[in-house]
Amino acid sequence: MSTRGRFLVFEGIDGAGKSTQIAALTAWLQTQGVATVTTREPGGTPVGEAIRALVLTHEMHAETELLLICAARREHLLTVIEPALAAGRWVVCDRFADASFAYQVGGRGVAPERFRQLDEWTRAGRQPDLVFLFDLPVATAAQRRAQRDAADGHTECDRFERESEAFFAAVRAAYRVRAAQDPQRYCVLDAQLPTERLTEIVLATVAQRWFAPKTRQPPSQGVAHDG
Ligand code: TMP
Repeated sequence: MSTRGRFLVFEGIDGAGKSTQIAALTAWLQTQGVATVTTREPGGTPVGEAIRALVLTHEMHAETELLLICAARREHLLTVIEPALAAGRWVVCDRFADASFAYQVGGRGVAPERFRQLDEWTRAGRQPDLVFLFDLPVATAAQRRAQRDAADGHTECDRFERESEAFFAAVRAAYRVRAAQDPQRYCVLDAQLPTERLTEIVLATVAQRWFAPKTRQPPSQGVAHDG
């Protein structure tokens, strides 16, 4: 296995069930002897968490929202993600740049060109190695959020959770557009599958990509490639 860290991202509309799978993947990576950093956006740093609190609670222009989220992302990249990857740690991140395309461009209607410019500066070329997109119908996601909130005794929704079905439908569509543009980087999952099945798929995808034993050709057929 290479010593370079990998950057794995989980995406999907609110209520898609990412959290359980993030915990399962992190636990499994640790059993494989991989040092991991589990983090989230917006957030993951003190200033990022302060920006998160602002963005989730204060009404603001959609462009302001994008600028703030990108500022949090830049801080996160510079102080958490890049140093971890450079040290050989694997970063498992709950949301990244695709969320800005999906929510701010798809959901809020920010001009794609604005996003492109800001995203280029923010990421400075950093791309996830793999993105799991948890895809499910918006009505199902809304039901799940309601069930989760009832179970938690959680009554106050944040600015995003209060959005309409039409908003989430636009977010979902934008995510699917991004995933279709780069099928190698995205693993689109049917988030309606049972939790255990989703865990199996997530772990198998990572295992196959980075932990599968290297197959070597017999010496008589030439020198094997290490990939
Ligand atoms: P979370 O509930 O998954 O932690 O995310 C908080 C909210 O922030 C979620 O509703 C989606 C939103 N969000 C954006 O609108 N744009 C972004 O770039 C990110 C990372 C999150």
